[in-house]
Amino acid sequence: MIMGGLENWNARSLVNCCIFSLLLCIHCTVAQQGFLSIQCCSDENFIDPITTISWITDENWYRDNRNCEDIRPGQEDTSYNRSRVFKSDVGNKWCYNLTTKRNQDYLVRGTFLSGDLQRNPPGSVFNVSVDATVIGLVNSSDDSKVEGIFKATKDYVNFCLLEGRGVPYISKIELRPLTSDYLNSESSGVLKLIDRVDAGNEGRNIRYPLDQYDRIWRADKYADPMANHISSSSVNITSSSPNLTNPPTEVLQTALAHPERLEFFYNNLDSEYYRYDLFLYFLELNDSVQVGQRVFDVYINDVKRIQVDIVLSGYRSFATVLNVTADRYLNLTMVKVFNGSQYGPVINAFEILQVHPLIQETDLEEVDVIMNVKNEFLRYNPDNEVLLSWLGDPCLPISWPRLSCERANGTSVITKMNVSSSKLGGPLPPSITKLINLKELDISYNNLMGNITEILTSLPNLTTLYYGCNPRLSNGFPASFRRSNLTTDEGKCTSQTSRHSARRIVIGMVAGLCILVSISIGIVFICSKKGKMLFKKKHDVNGYPMTKNAVYSVPSTEIILKSISIHIFTLEYIEASTQKYKTLIGEGGFGSVYRGTLPDGQEVAVKVRSATSTQGRREFDNELNLLSAIRHENLVPLLGYCCDNDQQILVYPFMSNGSLQDRLYGAAAKRKALDWPTRLSIALGAARGLTYLHTFSGRSLIHRDVKSSNILLDHSMCAKVADFGFSKYAPQEGDSGTSLEVRGTAGYLDPEYYSTQHLSAKSDVFSFGVVLLEIVSGREPLNINRPRNEWSLVEWAKPRIRNSRIEEIVDPSIKGGYHAEAMWRVVEVALACIEPYSAYRPCMADIVRELEDALIIENNASEYMKSIDSFGGSNRYSIERPIVILPTPVHTEASPILSQPLPPQPR
Ligand SMILES: *[C@@H]1O[C@H](CO)[C@@H](O)[C@H](O)[C@H]1NC(C)=O
Ligand SMILES: *[C@@H]1O[C@H](CO)[C@@H](O)[C@H](O)[C@H]1NC(C)=O
Ligand SMILES: *[C@@H]1O[C@H](CO)[C@@H](O)[C@H](O)[C@H]1NC(C)=O
Ligand SMILES: *[C@@H]1O[C@H](CO)[C@@H](O)[C@H](O)[C@H]1NC(C)=O
Ligand SMILES: *[C@@H]1O[C@H](CO)[C@@H](O)[C@H](O)[C@H]1NC(C)=O
Ligand SMILES: *[C@@H]1O[C@H](CO)[C@@H](O)[C@H](O)[C@H]1NC(C)=O
Ligand SMILES: *[C@@H]1O[C@H](CO)[C@@H](O)[C@H](O)[C@H]1NC(C)=O
Ligand SMILES: *[C@@H]1O[C@H](CO)[C@@H](O)[C@H](O)[C@H]1NC(C)=O
Repeated sequence: MIMGGLENWNARSLVNCCIFSLLLCIHCTVAQQGFLSIQCCSDENFIDPITTISWITDENWYRDNRNCEDIRPGQEDTSYNRSRVFKSDVGNKWCYNLTTKRNQDYLVRGTFLSGDLQRNPPGSVFNVSVDATVIGLVNSSDDSKVEGIFKATKDYVNFCLLEGRGVPYISKIELRPLTSDYLNSESSGVLKLIDRVDAGNEGRNIRYPLDQYDRIWRADKYADPMANHISSSSVNITSSSPNLTNPPTEVLQTALAHPERLEFFYNNLDSEYYRYDLFLYFLELNDSVQVGQRVFDVYINDVKRIQVDIVLSGYRSFATVLNVTADRYLNLTMVKVFNGSQYGPVINAFEILQVHPLIQETDLEEVDVIMNVKNEFLRYNPDNEVLLSWLGDPCLPISWPRLSCERANGTSVITKMNVSSSKLGGPLPPSITKLINLKELDISYNNLMGNITEILTSLPNLTTLYYGCNPRLSNGFPASFRRSNLTTDEGKCTSQTSRHSARRIVIGMVAGLCILVSISIGIVFICSKKGKMLFKKKHDVNGYPMTKNAVYSVPSTEIILKSISIHIFTLEYIEASTQKYKTLIGEGGFGSVYRGTLPDGQEVAVKVRSATSTQGRREFDNELNLLSAIRHENLVPLLGYCCDNDQQILVYPFMSNGSLQDRLYGAAAKRKALDWPTRLSIALGAARGLTYLHTFSGRSLIHRDVKSSNILLDHSMCAKVADFGFSKYAPQEGDSGTSLEVRGTAGYLDPEYYSTQHLSAKSDVFSFGVVLLEIVSGREPLNINRPRNEWSLVEWAKPRIRNSRIEEIVDPSIKGGYHAEAMWRVVEVALACIEPYSAYRPCMADIVRELEDALIIENNASEYMKSIDSFGGSNRYSIERPIVILPTPVHTEASPILSQPLPPQPR
């Protein structure tokens, strides 16, 4: 029930609120100074009841929780159950930028739980780095932790997962400040933990709160039956004063002793030579042992390093650090000295750390500049995949996608940048001119604007510059910059290699056309002649990797088209496919919409901006940028665009069944009324499309013009939401949200948005509620030809729903054709959607769930009702609710109403 749901929403937020304040209170009493504990993919912040550590979600780093994997709890870590999985064709490293204090030492620990999926072949193997220093490998065949100790050199550190085999994943990150005993001036670098053993402890591992730094001391089972596990709880720890960071008392209170020798052997270390630091901690637990009574030698890899007599120092404890260079294996052995020693060796704890020399990061000035370039690009391309993959150090350990670096003077500098075909819009970032080490720059095949002159004046060392195929970039090449050592396309839309690949496409396409499609020779001629202009193609300039090779050799247009996302069409091409704009199929704020046919037979709708359009250049670019990134089966995809001669033309697939509005009360409705189950499945499809938008890339996209005429129906009556011209990102903290002018259509406009101008996804929810009412009632949202009290659909329907008189609002043409329970579900969702206060409205995901239920009830019940005759009536309580087990829609198209096989969808 939606009403129950409403109460739940409120109750849930109340509980969250309480938990949050509780969290703050506990936090202030517990001394976890400087701890940062991140649970990746967690839904909420929480406190681990056992360790009392406060955990936060990783939403500040990655907001999109679609790539999260549930992990079955393991033996040790039962408190969390998720891993974030990084799947991207573009990225090559994924970083968590963590705040640090300069010159403070830290321990950073990543936990990598692979779950079942990851264990399947081929599995994943990838590296982990602390800033530029690679410290270790994660292999999905085991759940693992990687821990590094480092000194912060600036006010943040990037903990990164690097591209490897399979997909990288991570479950949690812990950052702990340490006192400075681990790192001395000689060992500047990152110490990777190999082992940290609490000798003599056969019970549980020891960590925070017993260890104030939250190191994890591993309880160790020592195999030799002659060894003694000894412990003493009355030990005088205060008298022990090694200068090393002490293990906690509980760790020192247990020890492993042996009458002759103790041996710890590691044989699976890296096969390269590394320096290892061994921290050894000894505490005499036997009060009666005197000087000379327990003396033993410490060997590392068969070399005697020191002789230990713990009590010799005058304290009853001793700690030391030994270093060794080793590959593959490490052998730490303690042997009782032959003569004189009464007792055998003993050890309380030890740590083995592998020393990774610090890799100098990229020149800080260079980092500042490229961060500015990234941010300036991001302002106009907030969801650009390439930009979002620019994480961590720009050059090291691997450079950002589309950048290349060189070592210069002991640091790295950026020498190449190739962002061609990256769907970038907006002005050229001014900071590009500060990348003074740049030798090659390719910004071609984007939608950038501005003037190339400044780049040429500021970057004298540039040897290659491509900037063609940016329709809004000044495309003249200033003659004064012609020089022999500069390779440039002079702003023309033909860089050598791209011309090359375009020609290959044309060949494939022409072949495909000849074989598959018989079509007028004239169009083929246009295609092959203009072919190089037809496609926006990811091309390979100067050895940059091509993304997803197209299958050129297969003579099928369809395959070729599929491999290319958005096409740039020429004006001639558009005119040919629409037969000079012969068939007008609609008009909107943007301009006119014409019907056309592409050479491969695909029917398209061609939106042409009119000269008097209220929707301007800005909306055009807005829609272009959005649509190129958006793909969902319930959203109308963009096939291509044309902006020759300042024409603004968008090309979409033609939706053969028109709009929902037309089917509800337009001309199409007069021919044949839309039946209730179809209405329901259309509502569900549209809701899914909007849910996708609202959760897009973790940053909500708001449609701003949800209405029944923007919900289109394809040949199989599958709903597709159209018209993103007005879409906006939801305002975020720090945005100046007031600058948005109120947009939308009368009758659908959220009153709260209208009065406060505060835009949120809930405004779309309001409009969607109106669409639901249209679906139920078959009435338009505003009709001043009706009696005064029926002008507004919302005002007319609301009291009738509240008084349970829904028969009065249901469309007469579906009377008797619906199941009352399903109808009630929809009506109740609609009522919740049109709540005046947006806080009380559900979110789209909740609406989807409710509509899925309704559709299943409708479909199941139509069977049920056939057998039990009398249940056609309106008493919604008279029907036993079927038990509904919702399959999680992997493929959302599987709505029951459309479960018959669909004809192949043209692309
Ligand atoms: C602990 O050590 C201190 C200083 O060495 C000493 O004064 C004190 O008596 C010792 N306490 C016990 C219980 O051994
Ligand atoms: C421990 O520190 C003291 C002074 O703080 C110093 O005199 C002593 O040499 C140090 N011992 C070791 C083993 O570093
Ligand atoms: C480890 O070192 C000790 C002392 O040198 C030696 O006796 C022992 O054989 C070594 N163990 C292995 C497995 O190499
Ligand atoms: C390794 O240990 C030796 C003493 O055993 C010390 O002289 C040397 O400085 C250490 N090397 C490093 C890099 O810490
Ligand atoms: C990390 O975050 C800090 C601010 O907290 C920012 O100044 C810095 O540029 C970021 N670094 C990277 C490489 O993302
Ligand atoms: C390299 O470093 C030296 C001294 O640190 C400096 O004089 C020189 O200008 C640097 N060269 C470049 C190209 O940055
Ligand atoms: C340009 O290159 C020359 C020689 O290759 C070099 O000396 C100069 O420092 C470079 N200029 C910049 C701004 O990097
Ligand atoms: C680009 O800017 C320069 C000066 O910054 C100006 O001289 C030139 O005319 C501009 N070019 C275009 C095409 O606007």
